[in-house]
Amino acid sequence: MPHLLITGANRGIGLEHVRVLLGRGWAVTACCRDPEGASELKALDPGDGRLRIKAYDAADAGAAAELAKEVREPIDILFANAGTMGPGDEGFGKTDAAGMAEAFAINTIAPLKLAEAFSDQVARSQMKVIALQSSRMGSIRDNTSGGYYGYRASKAGLNAVGKSLANDLKARGIIVMILHPGWVKTRMGGQGGLMTVHECVEGQLDLIARANPAMSGRFFHVSGEDLPW
Ligand SMILES: NC(=O)c1ccc[n+]([C@@H]2O[C@H](COP(=O)([O-])OP(=O)(O)OC[C@H]3O[C@@H](n4cnc5c(N)ncnc54)[C@H](OP(=O)(O)O)[C@@H]3O)[C@@H](O)[C@H]2O)c1
Repeated sequence: MPHLLITGANRGIGLEHVRVLLGRGWAVTACCRDPEGASELKALDPGDGRLRIKAYDAADAGAAAELAKEVREPIDILFANAGTMGPGDEGFGKTDAAGMAEAFAINTIAPLKLAEAFSDQVARSQMKVIALQSSRMGSIRDNTSGGYYGYRASKAGLNAVGKSLANDLKARGIIVMILHPGWVKTRMGGQGGLMTVHECVEGQLDLIARANPAMSGRFFHVSGEDLPW
């Protein structure tokens, strides 16, 4: 049975990945900050042991290594999805250093620590995919409107992490996909988003199903189009 491990699984895009893959018969390790309060996630439990919910705070650099002591099975898709806007659109002249550092911890460093902690489990799986939930807002070429210093820089940093991971893990057959989910209606994306979480997740899973070594270390829109760094 294929196995997904995903962070930020209690709401938004992460929750929908859990729902869809449980529906397809996968085993899912769903990681979130507050398992007690994750009512929508717990409501998905099919009751046959395929859903495991684990506590994970991306702001804690040691959290992934602790989790990896408990989750030893092969992982087909390791999905670093949890993310934060950080200080939001703090604007030039009002940047928030502590908020930016927190955005880096969650958006940039945590996915790297997750990959380090779980690379053996990924390498032992059939699909061998590490998916990084990035954002087009991390594209330097695509930035025509400025602002969002913490979010943009932390996602650009994540893209750099993804490229190094693709190089470092190539020999073990691991495919690292750097993904922009589209503009999605979630708490982060707002109701003005252009896609539902379901449309986003179907698109991301179609893209991941096509994973091959030539796709590793590339930055993809959910449509499958390559995005500029
Ligand atoms: N929606 C969009 O249009 C869009 C566009 C581009 C990229 N993205 C990316 O997509 C990913 C998912 O976002 P979303 O749209 O689904 O937004 P969302 O509904 O706001 O979900 C964000 C998720 O990240 C989790 N998270 C935040 N900080 C965390 C931490 N310290 N430790 C563990 N989990 C943490 C949240 O958990 P809590 O409930 O505990 O806060 C929540 O599960 C993010 O990486 C985001 O940057 C979204």
